[in-house]
Amino acid sequence: MSAPKKLFIKTYGCQMNVYDSERMLEALGGKGYVETQSPDDADMILLNTCHIREKAAEKVYSELGRYKGLKAENPDLKIGVAGCVAQAEGEEIMRRQPMVDLVVGPQSYHRLPAMEDALAQGQKALDTDFPEEDKFEILKRRPKSGRGPTAFLTVQEGCDKFCSFCVVPYTRGAEVSRPADRIIREAQELVEAGVREITLLGQNVNAYNGHDRGLAGLIWELDQIDGLARIRFTTSHPNDMDDALIEAHGTCEKLMPYLHLPVQSGSDRILKAMNRKHTAEDYLRLIERIRAARPDLHLSGDFIVGFPGETDADFEDTLTITREAGYGTAFSFKYSPRPGTPAAEKTAKMVDPDVASERLQRLQDQINTQQRTLQDAMVGREVSVLFEKPGRLDGQMVGKSEYLHAVHVSGADVAPGDIRKVLIEQSAPNSLGGSLA
Ligand code: SAH
Ligand code: SF4
Ligand code: F3S
Repeated sequence: MSAPKKLFIKTYGCQMNVYDSERMLEALGGKGYVETQSPDDADMILLNTCHIREKAAEKVYSELGRYKGLKAENPDLKIGVAGCVAQAEGEEIMRRQPMVDLVVGPQSYHRLPAMEDALAQGQKALDTDFPEEDKFEILKRRPKSGRGPTAFLTVQEGCDKFCSFCVVPYTRGAEVSRPADRIIREAQELVEAGVREITLLGQNVNAYNGHDRGLAGLIWELDQIDGLARIRFTTSHPNDMDDALIEAHGTCEKLMPYLHLPVQSGSDRILKAMNRKHTAEDYLRLIERIRAARPDLHLSGDFIVGFPGETDADFEDTLTITREAGYGTAFSFKYSPRPGTPAAEKTAKMVDPDVASERLQRLQDQINTQQRTLQDAMVGREVSVLFEKPGRLDGQMVGKSEYLHAVHVSGADVAPGDIRKVLIEQSAPNSLGGSLA
């Protein structure tokens, strides 16, 4: 047999891309590729890209520039671009960077093996279709070895919400849910391979409709799998939080008390311009209902500052909702106009970049303070930790609490996959430390 070929995959963007990268590696595994951690000895380099903000998209071109030397040294090296930039820009990528051999969109990567055949014959390959066939059926079964205790599992793809700032409905297409029985089969295989926690993924995961009782129905079926200890899901839209899903947060023990539920802005005027179809008050009432079901819920969110037309008063409303919702974690971004989205047309309403930067700094300072206060309040409490891997210090193990805090313990007899109670003793900026309870 010939020596395996080496594939270097670099992943940008959201968890869905992390999942897709795993599946692309598996698909090319059938063509004799194994993963390498360095581009220097690769036979193929694949960038799995993100188009959400301008900076994310531009990173791809600067990264490609860095591979010029490698390609000059090894003309057989194949360079591919996958993911959302591939979908959005297609052939334009090959025009801008002629050394790119392959462009494949997020809905067509099950065709990678055939595309690789074309590359081997010295051709270029481009596929940004939204095919009829179900890529997950063609990709087939997942390998059983080499897995850690946690895994992502895509259950829904695409988005029909068309928030006026967002490229996702264009790069990922319309909402499609995978049938529940196939997801359950994949989950069972993951558990047989040692996985104890599964995070269900979707661009709009709570719009999942592949089960007659929606995402909650799917969660209750997964709850039946012996050996699966924890279920999470991300990302949700406030308008798709149905009663059954709210109730599951209170009654399904395997469903972890963490919810990423972006609101984007606290100003009703801006929410309307964003086409979010809910008000700040709707959102706060929704949080109240979820907290009534699960009082210790750790809430996380996303915010955009400097959306076209955002005034100081609108921004103050964002600071207010951030306080009122009581986020344990929140991510905030400066608005980035994206080609083809309605908000990008509003050039006359663009917020001065310095003003936007200053608002972002203020919001991030406030979020950091809130986060730190909630995290410090964990000291003295017991959490349940799923251990994942050794930490940086000798004898240290790290894992995640039910609230998704990184937790480390030292000198304890625990292995990856163990779930143990830990008494929290220290709070550092991005992690907690403690000892077995
Ligand atoms: N489907 C998810 C989010 C996908 S994108 C949801 O609906 O919540 C992740 C985050 O990127 C968004 O929540 C938003 O806060 C941010 N984002 C999306 N488009 C953006 C843009 N044009 N400029 C800045 N941030 C953006
Ligand atoms: Fe983008 Fe809005 Fe869809 Fe989220 S819900 S992916 S922000 S369009
Ligand atoms: Fe980025 Fe595409 Fe995910 S644009 S955030 S990689 S869906």
